[in-house]
Amino acid sequence: MKILFAASEAVPFAASGGLADVTGSLPKALTAKGHDCRVVIPLYSSIRPELRAKMEFIKNITVDVSWRKQYCGIFKAVLNGITYYFIDNEYYYSREGMYGFYDDCERFVFFDRAVLEMLKYVGFTPEIIHCNDWQTALIPVYYSVYYKYQQGYDGIKNVFTIHNIEYQGKYGKEVLSELMSIPMYNAGLLDYDGYVNMLKGAIETADKITTVSPSYAWEILDPWYAHGLDRILVTKQYKLRGILNGIDTELYDPSKDPEITKNFSARNVSGKAECKRTLLEELNLDPGNEPVIGIVTRFVRHKGIDLIRCVFEEMIQMGFKFAVLGSGEKIYEDFFSEMAARYPGKVSVSLGFIPELSHRIYAGSDMFLMPSLSEPCGLAQMISMRYGTIPIVRETGGLRDTVRDNGGIDGNGFTFKTINANDMLDAVKRAFRDYNDKKVWDALVKRAMKCDFSWSASADDYIDLYEELLQDDLLEADA
Ligand code: GLC
Repeated sequence: MKILFAASEAVPFAASGGLADVTGSLPKALTAKGHDCRVVIPLYSSIRPELRAKMEFIKNITVDVSWRKQYCGIFKAVLNGITYYFIDNEYYYSREGMYGFYDDCERFVFFDRAVLEMLKYVGFTPEIIHCNDWQTALIPVYYSVYYKYQQGYDGIKNVFTIHNIEYQGKYGKEVLSELMSIPMYNAGLLDYDGYVNMLKGAIETADKITTVSPSYAWEILDPWYAHGLDRILVTKQYKLRGILNGIDTELYDPSKDPEITKNFSARNVSGKAECKRTLLEELNLDPGNEPVIGIVTRFVRHKGIDLIRCVFEEMIQMGFKFAVLGSGEKIYEDFFSEMAARYPGKVSVSLGFIPELSHRIYAGSDMFLMPSLSEPCGLAQMISMRYGTIPIVRETGGLRDTVRDNGGIDGNGFTFKTINANDMLDAVKRAFRDYNDKKVWDALVKRAMKCDFSWSASADDYIDLYEELLQDDLLEADA
C-alpha cells in the first residue's frame, strides 16, 4: 500500500511532543511490514544542519492562500529507508519555535494545500493520506471540496488521527474566504458553534477517524473529555476507532541506549541501580536507596499537575525523591522550581525539552508519576515500563489501556480512578509499600519490562483499517 503521513512534526526532524514520536515511528513500522509509507512536514528552520544536509530540492511551485500565490519549495530526504518530504516557505516556517504565532491558521492552511499540490510533482500518489491533529485537518476538507475531482487524485482515502482533542484550530468566520478559499456552500463542513473549527472539518470529511487509544475513542463521545466536539463525534461514531500507539522500541531500548550509564534488560536488571546512582549524582540529589519518582511532561493542566501540587510535600515527607523534567505553564514551572529550592537534595527540576536527560530519568527512577486528567494515549508510561520504572497513573485514555494495578495478578503499575489528590496519594503509598518488599518489587519490575509496547500489533490494526477503506471502493465498483 502507498501511504502518505502528513503532520506538523516528526522525529528526528522536529519534535515538541508525542505527536512527533508517533509520526517518527509508525511509518517505520508500516515500512517494515512492506508498505511504501512516506511522511511530509513543514521545513522548519530549526531542523538540525546535519539533517538539512540530507535534503534534496525537488521543485518550487506556488500555492494559493486565498487570492495570494505563495512560494512553496518541495524538498525530499531519505532516512533509514523512509522518504520524507518537506514543504518550504521561509516566511511561514523560518521562526523560533513551531507554533504559537498570530498567523498559525494561515501557516497550516498553506501547508495543507501545499501537501495536496505537491502530489502532482513528486511522482508518488498515495492510496491513503493519513493526517494528524488540527494542523493537517484541512487536507481531508480540501480533498473532498476540490481535489477528489481532479485527475490523479481520485480514489485516495483520508484517515485522520486525533492525538489530542483539546487543540482544534478554532478561528473566526472570516478565515473561510480570507485564508481558506472554502466556498460559502461548503462552510457547513467547518462551521461549529459559530466558529470555523478545523478539527470539525476533518471529522466531517475524513473517511476514518482514529484516536490513539481505545479508551480515548469512547471518552471523547462524552462532553467532559471532548472540549465541545462530542455532538459531532457522536454522529460520526461509525467511522471512529481507537488504536493504541506503540513506542519506538529501538530508540527506547535499555539494553542498547547510549544515553544511559549502564545498559540493562529484563533478564539482567542489575545495571538499573547504577543508572539510579548516576542520575542522583547528575541532578544533585542525595545518594541513597529511597524511591525516586520521575516526572517527564509538558507542564499543562490536563497532565494533572494540580494533583501533584496538592500532596507534594506529603510525598517528600514519606521519603520520596523527585526528578522532574518539563516545561510549559509558568505557574507549574514556578511550583517545581520552588520545591527544588525548598528541598535541595530531594527535588530536582530541569526546565526544557531535553531528550537525553529524559532517557536517564526513565532509566534511573523507580517510579513514574502521570496523574493526567485526560490522556489520549501517553507514551511516557510505556517508555518508563520498558526501563523498569513503575508507572503510577490515573485510569484514563491510554493510561487505562496500558497500566494494570499491581493489586491484580499481572499488574505492571499502580492506578487510581478519580481526580482527587488523596486517591492519587493512596496509589503512591501502595507503590511505596511494594517498593520496600524487594521480592514483590523485583517481580513487578520484570513484568513491566516484559510488556510489549512495540508498534507491531498496532501497525497491523492501521493496515486493516486502510485495507477496509480501499476494499470499500472495490465493493462500490463491483456494485
Ligand atoms: C498527544 C497526546 C498524548 C499522545 C500523543 C501521541 O501528545 O496528548 O497522549 O500519546 O499525542 O499520540
